[in-house]
Amino acid sequence: MILIANWKSTIPKNVNEYLRKVDRRIIIAPPMTHIPFIKNNTAAAQSCSLSKSITGEVHFEVLKDMGLNFCIIGHYERRKYFNETREESYEKAAALVKLDIIPILCCDEKSIEEDIQFAKGKNITLAYEPVESIGTGSALSPEKVEHIVENVKSKCRNKVIYGGSVSSKNARHLIRAGVDGLIVGRLSLDFKEINRIAELVPIFD
Ligand code: PGA
Repeated sequence: MILIANWKSTIPKNVNEYLRKVDRRIIIAPPMTHIPFIKNNTAAAQSCSLSKSITGEVHFEVLKDMGLNFCIIGHYERRKYFNETREESYEKAAALVKLDIIPILCCDEKSIEEDIQFAKGKNITLAYEPVESIGTGSALSPEKVEHIVENVKSKCRNKVIYGGSVSSKNARHLIRAGVDGLIVGRLSLDFKEINRIAELVPIFD
């Protein structure tokens, strides 16, 4: 079971206190600037670039040099604001797999079938993030999540995690739906809330 704190483009208010008190089993995906400060937890990147010469981006090989083992790929916000295409996300995921970095490939209802076929047999974790649940406070129902997990598990052996308005109120139900983990965005900036969610996640590996 994995639990990812996706800080997106900001940092918690008191980041030092946060890093002292946050549950060590949580994978933290901070902005690139803060990856060196993640010492007690495992760090993940939020994206990477296929090019070595784009201002503001970070090439995937640099993630390896930084010692990272995880990278979120194709998040809805990357698709929406940076026009990241599915082909690019797949290219990035394939490049990361070659470097032994596990891509957390974000999927939604439109892409899931193609994503399953792409990820099948590769060390890629699928992160099901319905667009209407990201940042809205309205997570997908556990019944729908269960249905999605069953579909994925019937077609491939990849891990499948859920993201989209996860909170300490719904985490237990979402976990019971059979997911291999959760991604928490907005609420992960509060260490008390993410620690509460960690308490509900039964087994970490
Ligand atoms: P949210 O974000 O928890 O704020 O909905 C999840 C995500 O975008 O990964």
